[in-house]
Amino acid sequence: MTAKELRQKYLSYFENKGHKIIPSASLVPEHDPTVLFTTAGMHPLVPYLLGQDHPQGKRLTNVQKCLRTDDIEDVGDNWHNTFFEMLGNWSLGEYWKEEAITWSFEFLTKELGLDPNRISVTVFGGDPEIDSVGVDEESVVIWKKLGIPDERIYQLGKADNWWGPVGDSGPCGPDTEMFYDTGKAEHGQVCRPGESCGKYTEIWNDVFMEYNRNKDGKYEKLAQRNVDTGMGVERMVGVLQGRDNVYD
Ligand code: GLY
Repeated sequence: MTAKELRQKYLSYFENKGHKIIPSASLVPEHDPTVLFTTAGMHPLVPYLLGQDHPQGKRLTNVQKCLRTDDIEDVGDNWHNTFFEMLGNWSLGEYWKEEAITWSFEFLTKELGLDPNRISVTVFGGDPEIDSVGVDEESVVIWKKLGIPDERIYQLGKADNWWGPVGDSGPCGPDTEMFYDTGKAEHGQVCRPGESCGKYTEIWNDVFMEYNRNKDGKYEKLAQRNVDTGMGVERMVGVLQGRDNVYD
C-alpha cells in the first residue's frame, strides 16, 4: 500500500462514519501560541476542543502535517521522524471511547488487514502526578471485548499514556496506544510496547481529551469530552510494506 492509498482509505473510512474531511493546517500555528510549530493535529483545533463550534460539525478527519521535536532524542532510530503526516479522526464533544477504539481496531484489522494477534495496546494506568485521574478501566473493557487478551493490554503511567499539552497549558488527556509486533526477537531488559527494544512499533494513538492543564499545572475537566486520534502515515506505510524502518 502506498502513502496515497493509505490516506485515501483512512479519510473515506471516517467519511463513511459521518466525519467531514478538513485540510491540513499550516505548520506554523495560527491559533496556538504555546508551540512554535504544529506538532500534532490538535493545535489547529484547540478552540474547538475547548467548545467553540466548528463550521464543519462535530466529527472531523484530516491528514495534518506535523513537525515534532519533543522526542528529538528518539529521531534516528528506525521509526521516529521530525516531519511527518498524521492521520486523525476527531470527536468534538460527541462520540467517545467505545466508538473511537472499535473503529481503530476495525480499520487496522479489516481495512488494512493487520493480524489482530500482532496488536498490543497500552492504556492509562494512573500516575501520582495526576492523582485525580484513575486507571482507564473503560478502555480496558472495550479492548477485551474486541478480543485483545489481558497479556497484550499494558497499563502504563503518564509518560506513556497521557497526551499533551505540548506547551505548558492546554487540552490533554489519557490515551490508548496501539502497537504492532514487528516479529523481531525480544532483546534488552524490558521489551514491551513503549520501550525502544525494536520489537513493537506504535501505530496509532487514541487520545481522550477531556482535561485542560491550566497555567498553574492543575488538571481541570473541559466543558466537553473530545477524541483526538493520531496515526503516522510514514510509519504505518512502513509497517504495511514490511519495512523495518520509516526511511525506506
Ligand atoms: N494526536 C495524538 C498524537 O499525536 O499522538
